[in-house]
Amino acid sequence: MGEIVRRAVLPDEAAALLSDEPDGAASNELHADLITCFIAGSRAILLRGLYPDRIGEAAFERALLVLGKWLGVPSIQSPNGELIARVEHNPDDVQARGTHSHDELQGHTDLHDILALACVRPAERGGESFLVPAHELHDCLLANHGEGMATLREGYYFGTNPVLQSDHPVSEDKVPVLFDGERKLVCWNGYFMRMAAQSRGEQLPDALARGLDHLRAAAMNLSERRTFMLREGDILFWHNWSWLHGRTAFQDQSNQRRRLLRLWLRTDLIDRPPILAQRGARIDADHRLTQSLGYRLP
Ligand SMILES: [Fe+2]
Repeated sequence: MGEIVRRAVLPDEAAALLSDEPDGAASNELHADLITCFIAGSRAILLRGLYPDRIGEAAFERALLVLGKWLGVPSIQSPNGELIARVEHNPDDVQARGTHSHDELQGHTDLHDILALACVRPAERGGESFLVPAHELHDCLLANHGEGMATLREGYYFGTNPVLQSDHPVSEDKVPVLFDGERKLVCWNGYFMRMAAQSRGEQLPDALARGLDHLRAAAMNLSERRTFMLREGDILFWHNWSWLHGRTAFQDQSNQRRRLLRLWLRTDLIDRPPILAQRGARIDADHRLTQSLGYRLP
């Protein structure tokens, strides 16, 4: 359950994806393999066989959207309303967080159910990705820091990006970091946790802060043997709540930036606690509200 499925996109499947009828018989098996991976498999799949330098970035982007719609409903990526974001270093974005920075991103989860990254161009140096299975993280923490499990199962509130308009800047309930069950799940995003603490005018409870330190260290250790490089044309889909994701820092060539296309999907394909389903719904609502009202002034 802990390995990323690797699946070649065959030439006739690639042709179907790029045609006017991408859902035809030629793509049936690929469609079924994607669904099976998420329902009964490891919930992470790396597709290889579409090459943006041959088909063009616009066609690559369309194919990504077709594949994504087989798994769920794409969410807007920002108040600009785009369904696909470009993840690349942008030195002009002074507020750059993960999307526009070239810094390391430690293991974390995002807010939607299924995520995708499609590689248009890798970096000149660095930029390795990793996925850490939630069950490995649980096992490691239970074995080494069992005393901290209760506080991680209790979790903490979730905030939002303070520049966004929001009806719910802080979640009503605490969101667990670790979820037990037949399949272990994880929800860990330090940024949104810090934003909640800031809004509530408090510090994270000491026990939780200690538990999160252990979680961070465990995730870092586990990620070291789970790194891989997304090559040009690689498309990675994974279940956000079943894997932590992150990347190493990278450096671009001056005229050729590393570029990944990102998709966020909401989906009922995999059952998950309502409080997790709410994370994607809330940020989507914030993006839409900001779309109509404009950004909040600092
Ligand atoms: Fe992320």
